[in-house]
Amino acid sequence: MKSVYERVAIEAALQAGHFIRRSVGRVRHISYKDNSATNIVTDVDKRSEAMITRHLRRAFPGHAILAEETGRDKVRSPYVWIIDPLDGTSNFAHAFPFFCVSIGLEHNGRIVLGVVYDPNRNELFTAAAGKGARLNGKRIRVSGVRKLEKSFLATGFSYGKRRKGRNVRNFEALLTRTMAIRRAGSAALDLSYVACGRFDGFWELDLHPWDSAAGMLLVEEAGGAVSRFDGSTYSPHDKNILATNGTIHRQMSRILTG
Ligand code: IPD
Ligand code: CA
Ligand code: CA
Repeated sequence: MKSVYERVAIEAALQAGHFIRRSVGRVRHISYKDNSATNIVTDVDKRSEAMITRHLRRAFPGHAILAEETGRDKVRSPYVWIIDPLDGTSNFAHAFPFFCVSIGLEHNGRIVLGVVYDPNRNELFTAAAGKGARLNGKRIRVSGVRKLEKSFLATGFSYGKRRKGRNVRNFEALLTRTMAIRRAGSAALDLSYVACGRFDGFWELDLHPWDSAAGMLLVEEAGGAVSRFDGSTYSPHDKNILATNGTIHRQMSRILTG
């Protein structure tokens, strides 16, 4: 049975996701964050965030919120909702259909709930700590691929130029040792795809808590492994993440730290 937290988070994700889907091709305003020419935010990101936070605040007025566009509110609570109102904004702004809404719930520093909704494929990924991960209600598991040479991986490149350069080196090192690597442009969906076995592994430098909070729990609850590059314990407040089916984890970690 779903908890009240899960029910409300799903409602918020579906509502925002449908709004985003209807807004494709109708962006009214694009602005650039942090004086960068590449890191964009649209009116749709902001409206999606307002919708989600309104929904969560109404249901849980005592809970805190950390959301990408408005930051951390001032509420003090052991519960913190971590929200990416539109993960894959550049894709969305170009009508490239790979973006989602991501909502995670942290309780006393541990992620206990993750909801990722892809409105293009109508795919809802959910995970609750200790209760497994699901795609549209059906249990999902990570892939069984054992050999790195046979693995199908994903990565992302953050907006910072220097970080991009560093990840190009990782990309090159892994590209020659694996079947293929995709850079689809939504970290939360990349993680969801590791959880359901479409990807065997994912890594990225310089993520933010809202990119990975829900997705990391999805991977763990689907039987996979999540860590920093060096194999140490990962929290969504860390920068670099390695998430795999578990079996190729050590091999990838060795290459990323080599
Ligand atoms: C970005 C996407 C992208 C990843 C970037 C993120 P945004 O989030 O997840 O795949 O490579 O690091 O910032 O800006 O579209 O929410
Ligand atoms: Ca994001
Ligand atoms: Ca975003």
